Amino acid sequence: MKIGIYGGTFNPPHAGHVKAAGDAVKALNLDKLLVIPTATPPHKELPEGSAPAEKRLEMAQIAFGEVDKAEVCDIELARGGRSYTVDTVAALKEQYPGDELWIIMGGDMFFGLTGWYKFETLLTQVGFAVADRADESEKLQEYAEHMRRELGAKVEFIPERPVEISSTELRRLLENAEGMELLSPEVYAYIIKNRLYGAKAQLDWLRAKAINLLAPKRVPHVLGCEQEAVRLAQRWGEDVYSAAAAGILHDITKKCSANEQLILCEKYGTVTDALELESPKLLHSKTAADMAWDEFGISPEVREAIRWHTTGRADMTMLEKIIYIADYMEPNRDFEGVDELRRLAYEDIDMALRLGLRMSMEDMEARRIVPHPRSLGALEYIERRLEERGL
Ligand SMILES: [Fe+2]
Ligand SMILES: [Fe+2]
Repeated sequence: MKIGIYGGTFNPPHAGHVKAAGDAVKALNLDKLLVIPTATPPHKELPEGSAPAEKRLEMAQIAFGEVDKAEVCDIELARGGRSYTVDTVAALKEQYPGDELWIIMGGDMFFGLTGWYKFETLLTQVGFAVADRADESEKLQEYAEHMRRELGAKVEFIPERPVEISSTELRRLLENAEGMELLSPEVYAYIIKNRLYGAKAQLDWLRAKAINLLAPKRVPHVLGCEQEAVRLAQRWGEDVYSAAAAGILHDITKKCSANEQLILCEKYGTVTDALELESPKLLHSKTAADMAWDEFGISPEVREAIRWHTTGRADMTMLEKIIYIADYMEPNRDFEGVDELRRLAYEDIDMALRLGLRMSMEDMEARRIVPHPRSLGALEYIERRLEERGL
């Protein structure tokens, strides 16, 4: 068998890595490609905020799963500590006696090859497969010729038109809610769910996820709520990204039946009370908050804004008020008094909150529904607060 060895930190594994792996399999006509995430690479530490080893391994398994002949191998991670290629090769030689091993590398590594630990030993055991990125083709060919002639090295080339991505740059993009297109969708979802690299989910990704979970008739309401929340956040100096994320995700479990709500509570460890158990309409804000927390990497502030969007609560944060009000009066809402609510929302958000809570109580009274004590607490709190201001 002809076996390729492709090592890297894969921190995270991105489109450039996946393409390089596929190119190597084809160009070298490999029977197997061993993708080997390294523990700590020789001569360097992993940058701060890196994903832990077992997460890099899982991401590699997801990312390279789509490459024919590729197989992720945990040999270096299992050994831990600093990894020298010569040790890995020795272990692989035992595992694959009689097979041909080829180490895959970039041109820069190839030029530094003679400096590798126990290079002479390595030379007798493996071939070197070098990515030829056309820009330094001539230099590479010359150097390969020299290596073959002087040292008897086995060298082959992998013609490659590389995807220009650096992992450092990608991690920076992820922090800024960008970079999704440089990762496979599954790896991206994994990064978000596991809160790796301080990644913030892209809003278009969140929107697509939410729409998938919503009843079609609720989609305009949710998109309206997002837009309204963004405008209110701009008006009141609140974080716009958080407002948008909370608006997008606030109703993601709304279409679930009472029974499904209870299953979600079980799954996400949602704490409920007797009133909520009687009325799944109340429960959806809590299950949505916990589901969004678990799946979509939201911040604690966004989680709380979603959690209290139906009832409100005493001592609400600005973001919580924004989501409560936006949900109430987004552009698709139409009821008596909505214009006044809209006007107040931009003039004095506490007054809007008081009006919203009062209208909601009146509405429940008319329909003979007992309001949740948390809503009463919210109203009492906001009334007291406005009284102190003489309003
Ligand atoms: Fe809701
Ligand atoms: Fe809603």
